[in-house]
Amino acid sequence: MTELDSLVEAARSSFAQAQTPADLENAKALYLGKSGRITEMMKGMASLSVEEKKTFGAAVNVAKQGIEAALTARRQALADAELAVQLKAEAFDVTLPGRPLTQGGLHPVSLTLERIEQIFGSMGFEVAQGPEIETDWFNFTALNTPEDHPARSMHDTFYVEGGHLLRTHTSPMQIRHAVQHVKRYKAQLEAGKGMPEIRVIAPGRTYRVDSDATHSPMFHQCEGLWIGENVSFKDLKVVFTDFCRTFFESDDLVLRFRPSFFPFTEPSAEIDIQFQTGPLAGRWLEVAGSGQVHPNVVRNMGLDPEKFIGFAFGMGPDRLTMLRYGVNDLRLFFDGDVRFLSQFQ
Ligand code: PHE
Repeated sequence: MTELDSLVEAARSSFAQAQTPADLENAKALYLGKSGRITEMMKGMASLSVEEKKTFGAAVNVAKQGIEAALTARRQALADAELAVQLKAEAFDVTLPGRPLTQGGLHPVSLTLERIEQIFGSMGFEVAQGPEIETDWFNFTALNTPEDHPARSMHDTFYVEGGHLLRTHTSPMQIRHAVQHVKRYKAQLEAGKGMPEIRVIAPGRTYRVDSDATHSPMFHQCEGLWIGENVSFKDLKVVFTDFCRTFFESDDLVLRFRPSFFPFTEPSAEIDIQFQTGPLAGRWLEVAGSGQVHPNVVRNMGLDPEKFIGFAFGMGPDRLTMLRYGVNDLRLFFDGDVRFLSQFQ
């Protein structure tokens, strides 16, 4: 074996011993670096004759190529090994069961609102939407609740710039919707031909300064309004009883109209329901306020109270949801805890 052959052999074995790319680069420097063995040999050739340069130069070149080839092969081997370790570490078990996709769903109160709309829709009621930021006129004055009326104190709310307020109930929608309706049938009304009955519900968010287990500063209401020339309390009672029985899927549920007071209805009544079976059986549960629309309110709708009579009710979808699902703390609805919410899907 020539000296050059053994040099190549030595390089190959020191490359083979290198366990990391850094080790390998250090080993390389010994042979191919600035003062490595091959480099030194090439420098030393300056003193040789032309003939010797040719033969020795060619042999050194062969040795150099051999070392370079060994280096490249070892580099590749180390890179491959590194990749293999990485792949092993990152390997995942394709036989594991997949993670289920979690699907969103509707909020329990939204489910109730959909249900209310569907049931009243089937009884010929339209659904109307209105603003949550209201004027004093629609929220109070037009509803026969002038400034300084004591009933206003039960409706403390949030005021925004310009004297507007967050509506304290959905009753302003009685006026808003009726005014639109009257406008639409203006010509017909002026010709003394009457108008189609107003039959509408208006669900939405409402606000009051109130916060405990059964009151939230933001809560929901659903208004109902039925105005015609020949509507009576009996009709309201039939419709509302039908609604409650359908909503709670309970045919023997009983209703009670308990005399009450609202400035915009006269007479007024709270509607209580009683289940005959189940965990709430026998207890009277308040679910809505109601009454015959006050003549002043009928007038503010643009109608003649001598000719048109109407009934209104306002119910609490949050409370209906609590009763339907047996939830005892209203705040759970607004905490956004998925463990609670996912139970309604
Ligand atoms: N707006 C009343 C309230 O919030 C409820 C109601 C609506 C009463 C319609 C009578 C008629 O308490």
